[in-house]
Amino acid sequence: MENFSFYSPTKFVFGKETESRCGALVKEFGGSKVLIHYGGGSVVRSGLLDRVKKSLSDAGVQFCELGGVTPNPRSGKVYEGIDLCKKENVDFILAVGGGSSIDSAKAIAMGVCYDGNFWDFYSGKERPKKALPVGTVLTIAAAGSEGSGDSVITHENGMLKRGASGECIRPRFSILNPQLTITLPAYQTACGATDIMAHVFERYFTNTTDVQTTDRLCEAVLLSMIEETPKVIKDPSDYQARANIMWAGMVAHNNIVGVGREQDWNSHGIEHELSALYDCAHGAGLAVIMPAWMTYVVDHDVMRFAQMACRVWNCKMDFQNPKKTALEGIAAFRSFLKSIGMPINFSELGAKESDIPYLVKTFGLGETGKTGGFVQLTSKDVENIYRLAL
Ligand code: NZQ
Ligand code: ZN
Repeated sequence: MENFSFYSPTKFVFGKETESRCGALVKEFGGSKVLIHYGGGSVVRSGLLDRVKKSLSDAGVQFCELGGVTPNPRSGKVYEGIDLCKKENVDFILAVGGGSSIDSAKAIAMGVCYDGNFWDFYSGKERPKKALPVGTVLTIAAAGSEGSGDSVITHENGMLKRGASGECIRPRFSILNPQLTITLPAYQTACGATDIMAHVFERYFTNTTDVQTTDRLCEAVLLSMIEETPKVIKDPSDYQARANIMWAGMVAHNNIVGVGREQDWNSHGIEHELSALYDCAHGAGLAVIMPAWMTYVVDHDVMRFAQMACRVWNCKMDFQNPKKTALEGIAAFRSFLKSIGMPINFSELGAKESDIPYLVKTFGLGETGKTGGFVQLTSKDVENIYRLAL
């Protein structure tokens, strides 16, 4: 295991009707004028937005609002939010929604405290150091942004989807009420489940040895997802299954399952090019890319893939031919994704073979670059993975 420091100070308030506490929580973390930031209308239709406003009013907290965040959130909405916050003297941003609203809120939070263009944090020109405090009321278990120090935004100029990371954007509090996820369409639920599992796999495939504790934590999250996801696809109102998935989504991405080990993250990078170009759901893109990536890199550490196959997918170890076991594990993952309604290849996702050169180019490694923690990939490797996903 490698040395690490782990600091995850978000206060999580979990359970039924907990959104009624958001006003008191904003006050607890020093907010007096809030920007409520939300998406395309699900929180309006469900009545959640009204309940959030009531909670803020009851606590004597002033607010203004900005809705309309799209999935794969865009830079234009971030610029709008920064201007509004400055005009209204906002000192706290409350995201009500999923990863997209939360990531947009984090981008606004950084942008308000920065004299330059907020995109500098996403292009890699600047590291985030200061941001307005952010709180969240989560409505979909997926991205893990409610507990992460990450934000992913797509710039409309060039449709580049890029991430920024920094402790200053980790939410001060996150309200996790599983009841709020009951209105999710099955497809979005499955996209979220895929993303949660992918966050674990990005950490599970590592070159670091002697990481039994985090291996076992990873496997526990994956096994729970395999057990609970089909339950909510069948019965969207299964509260206990929704609750387990919601907590798994947080645990999968606040890095508790990733400390002390090298991590990979190439599947995410390769996927982000798909959701930037086709505006598909991030989880759906991952369902297409991650099994292809696994197949492409399996020879790098056959025994680690065989371990996943046996411990997570209940495959029987073939000691004469561990690669057979490893490939069975990858096939089981793909079958699971199919069973919950995910696309598993380019055509099911609506992606085109003829776009592969463009996708490889915007991935940005050029002729000599390499990236990845488990296996270092070149542009040619990235192209091969897209082709394997056809
Ligand atoms: O916009 P509304 O109307 O709210 O509808 C949303 C949206 O259409 C809908 N939805 C959310 N909660 C709902 C609901 N519909 C009915 N009932 C509810 N309770 O679901 C759709 C998807 O929402 P979105 O916020 O986009 O989902 P998700 O949480 O999957 O976020 C995806 C974004 O997060 C990024 C992804 O790349 C993508 O842009 N990620 C962020 C990460 C982070 N910040 O740490 C890490 C991830 O790996 C990921 O890259
Ligand atoms: Zn993800």
